[in-house]
Amino acid sequence: MERGPWREAMPNAFGTRRHFGPESAGMRNNIVLIGFMGSGKTSIGRLVAQRLGFQFVDTDAIVVERVGMQVAEIFAKHGEPWFREQESAALRSLGILQRAVVSTGGGIVLHPRNRELLRELGFVVWLTASEEVIFERVSRNKKRPLLQTADPRTTVHELLERRRPLYEGAAQFTVDSSSLAHEAAAEAVIAEARRAFSWQTVA
Ligand code: S3P
Repeated sequence: MERGPWREAMPNAFGTRRHFGPESAGMRNNIVLIGFMGSGKTSIGRLVAQRLGFQFVDTDAIVVERVGMQVAEIFAKHGEPWFREQESAALRSLGILQRAVVSTGGGIVLHPRNRELLRELGFVVWLTASEEVIFERVSRNKKRPLLQTADPRTTVHELLERRRPLYEGAAQFTVDSSSLAHEAAAEAVIAEARRAFSWQTVA
């Protein structure tokens, strides 16, 4: 993928990293949050939406509502591939959305077409955290079907290794929330989104 001269090779002191510059011109004014389970997409996304007066949308919630079952139940009854189809359909249903923060399920980047759709939807931010912090956060909630394994620590490690390049490739901006309060992470997302959206109007 084309990388602009604005790319910062290393994260800066604020735990943020810009992937792309003005070639994002023409993007729709939604903020799309991607990242692993436990990276703070829902909590940080709600804060961002609240502060900008944007609508908050969650792809998992759309699936749950459409199917009428919780995510764990869907995995148990229909399996992961079927869940992935519902997840892609949820993403496609956001075609006309504007001024929204879209929080996505951690596996949404697995499907190449989804990665294109995410970019078409708006400014894509990868919320990340260290593996230790992620494991600590996901351990508090036992509902996630993919982590119901004999060794969830190794599962987190393997899933993260596999997905990291996909998040990296899909995102225009990264915020590492390992040592950031949710408020600070939300502020970082908002500041960068404002910059990205104003490039669009200047262009
Ligand atoms: C998944 C993440 C979950 C949910 C499902 C699968 C994944 O969403 O979509 O359990 O594959 O990483 P969160 O990232 O919001 O936990």
